[in-house]
Amino acid sequence: MNLSVQLAPEHPAGLSLANPVMTASGTFGYGTEYSHLFDIQRLGAIVCKGTTLKPREGNPQPRLAETASGLLNSIGLQNIGVKALIKEKAPLWASWRVPVIINIAGETIDDYIQLAGELDGIAGVSAIEVNISCPNIKAGGAEFGANPESAAEVTASVKAATSLPVLVKLTPNTADIAKVATAVAEAGADAISLINTLKGMVIDTGKRRPLLGNISGGLSGPAIKPVALYMVYEVAGGVAVPVIGCGGITTASDAIEFIMAGASAIQIGTASFTNPRAPLDILEGIEQFLEKEGVKDITELIGVARC
Ligand SMILES: Cc1cc2nc3c(=O)[nH]c(=O)nc-3n(C[C@H](O)[C@H](O)[C@H](O)COP(=O)(O)O)c2cc1C
Repeated sequence: MNLSVQLAPEHPAGLSLANPVMTASGTFGYGTEYSHLFDIQRLGAIVCKGTTLKPREGNPQPRLAETASGLLNSIGLQNIGVKALIKEKAPLWASWRVPVIINIAGETIDDYIQLAGELDGIAGVSAIEVNISCPNIKAGGAEFGANPESAAEVTASVKAATSLPVLVKLTPNTADIAKVATAVAEAGADAISLINTLKGMVIDTGKRRPLLGNISGGLSGPAIKPVALYMVYEVAGGVAVPVIGCGGITTASDAIEFIMAGASAIQIGTASFTNPRAPLDILEGIEQFLEKEGVKDITELIGVARC
């Protein structure tokens, strides 16, 4: 059976994955952290943690809180910075079979441009995923991805700064995600991934204060799956570029729902915290489903549930 998918059909180099199972940024480190637990080379792609120009320490503790069927995090993009990533991580990735995609985050358009420029031509880097859920400090802290204009501006700027395929990762914290998706696709995104976390909070009633050091955080895990699934369904109906579904995927059945809604690939995030083998278990479950249903090519399932 054929499990391979193409995530950048319009890009000269393309972004061909052996299968549609990817890891979600910020939940799988740099890939190396999981390599002793299972054969990570079997995955479709690894998306590494959010990377900024300079190293970041992240937000004050506590930064994680469990909620009903979910997880609230306010890590604040703790990472080693792009220069260390290129020096310390990329040489190893260059020897891997599984493609590694770098998730980038900035506070200004110029940050994104510089990041894309630094990563261009680095062996071991197969594509860029642009996290537009970051506050735009020149626009009073509104997320770049909150409106179609700023989302398109970041996309076009990154595209102009790199020859790598560019995935743009949408935020659900916006009035109309389909409009943002259309703007991003028109600005040149090779593929669109969605969703990032939903804003939320927890209060420590004993202390009478917000529990997270940062007050608010991003909600992920099974609690957000129906929201993510519907957003994928909406976005996939409006754009011609491949869509990558993410949000609460915990089982192979969840993954197949996203594919049937129109996703060409899926990302596993929070599920890896309770079961580090979740991406591989989900891949094996997808294979079993295709076999049981007599489906020879995974692409036959993409969008089949669409009305
Ligand atoms: C601890 C944690 C850190 C994350 N860091 C990033 C990040 O650096 N960049 C990014 O685009 N998304 C980040 N995310 C969002 C995930 O990649 C994913 O979009 C989201 O968690 C929804 O998927 P899930 O429900 O499967 O976890 C993070 C999520 C978690 C839980």
